[in-house]
Amino acid sequence: METLDNKVIMITGATDGLGKLAAKRFASRGATLLIHGRNKSKGENAIAEIKKATGNDKLEYYNADLGSLEEVRAMATSIRSKHDTLHLLINNAGLGGGPKGNSKRELSRDGIELRFQVNYLSHFLLTYTLLPIIKAAAPSRVINVSSVGQHELDFRDIMLEKNYESFRAYRQSKLAQIMFTIDLAGELESTGVAVNCLHPATLMNTNMVYEFFGSTMSSVEEGADALEYVATSEETGTVTGKYFDQKRMANANAQAYDKEARQRLRELSFKLAGLKNGSGD
Ligand SMILES: NC(=O)c1ccc[n+]([C@@H]2O[C@H](COP(=O)([O-])OP(=O)(O)OC[C@H]3O[C@@H](n4cnc5c(N)ncnc54)[C@H](OP(=O)(O)O)[C@@H]3O)[C@@H](O)[C@H]2O)c1
Repeated sequence: METLDNKVIMITGATDGLGKLAAKRFASRGATLLIHGRNKSKGENAIAEIKKATGNDKLEYYNADLGSLEEVRAMATSIRSKHDTLHLLINNAGLGGGPKGNSKRELSRDGIELRFQVNYLSHFLLTYTLLPIIKAAAPSRVINVSSVGQHELDFRDIMLEKNYESFRAYRQSKLAQIMFTIDLAGELESTGVAVNCLHPATLMNTNMVYEFFGSTMSSVEEGADALEYVATSEETGTVTGKYFDQKRMANANAQAYDKEARQRLRELSFKLAGLKNGSGD
C-alpha cells in the first residue's frame, strides 16, 4: 500500500474500536496521526499502544467531548494552531443505541438531542472549522463513518421530543451524516477535496455493538479494510459525494437524495452549530 509519510490524518473516536484500528493502520503507513478521544487516559493508552505496534511517534492526542460544541471549537482551534494542512479527516466517533432497554432521551451540554450532536452536528462543526487546512492540503479527503442503519429525519420533531427511541436517534444521526456528505461534496466541487461516507461493516465486535445488541456479526478488521479502502485507495480518490456499503458504492435512504431536505438540514445545522452559512468562522 502507498506510503502516507507526508500526510496528516485526523480520526475522531480513535481511542477504541474501528477508529483505533484505522489509526494503527495509517500510523504503520507513516502518517502523522491526530487522534481524538473524550477520555485523556484512554487517549494516552491508545497513543502508547499505536506507537509500540508501529514504531511511529508522529502521534498527537486531542481531547474533546463531542457532546459540547465549545470543546469541539477549542479542539479545532488547537489543531489549526499546530497544522497548516490536513489531508484526511475521518469523522468516526459515535454513540450507539446505548444499553438495550434504555429509553430515556438524552441531551448534550448544548441542549441538543445527544446522538444528533455527537454523531452528526459536532462533526459538521469540526469539518467546517477545519476546512481551511483541509482545502490547503488538496488533494484531500473527508470521510464520514455512517451506517446502513438509517432513519428518515422528521423536521417537525428533529430533536425527537415526541417519538424518542435511542436506536432511532442513532439511525437519524447516521442519515444526517450521509446528507451532509452529499451536500459538502457539492459545495467543494473543484476544490480538490473529496467527501464520501460509508457503512464499515455490520455489527462489528466493538463496545457500541456489545452494549446494544449483545452479539456481533463481523470483525473490526473487516470495517477497517473498508474504511482504509474508501479513505485512501487510488480508485476512490476521484469519487466524491458517495455512500459506500463497505467497499461497494451503494444507495442510501431516499431522503439523502432529496435536495430540499438536505437544504433544511444544512440551514438548521449552521444555526445550531453557531456558524455563518458556508463558512468555518
Ligand atoms: N460497530 C458497528 O458494527 C458499526 C456499524 C456501522 C457503523 N458504525 C460506526 O462506526 C463508528 C465507530 O464505531 P465503533 O463500532 O468503533 O464504536 P466504539 O468502539 O464504541 O467506538 C466509538 C468511539 O467514539 C468515541 N465517542 C463516543 N461518544 C463520544 C463523545 N461524546 N465524544 C467524543 N468521543 C466519543 C468513543 O470514545 P470512548 O473510547 O471514550 O468510548 C470511541 O472512541 C461509529 O460512527 C459507528 O456509528 C459501527
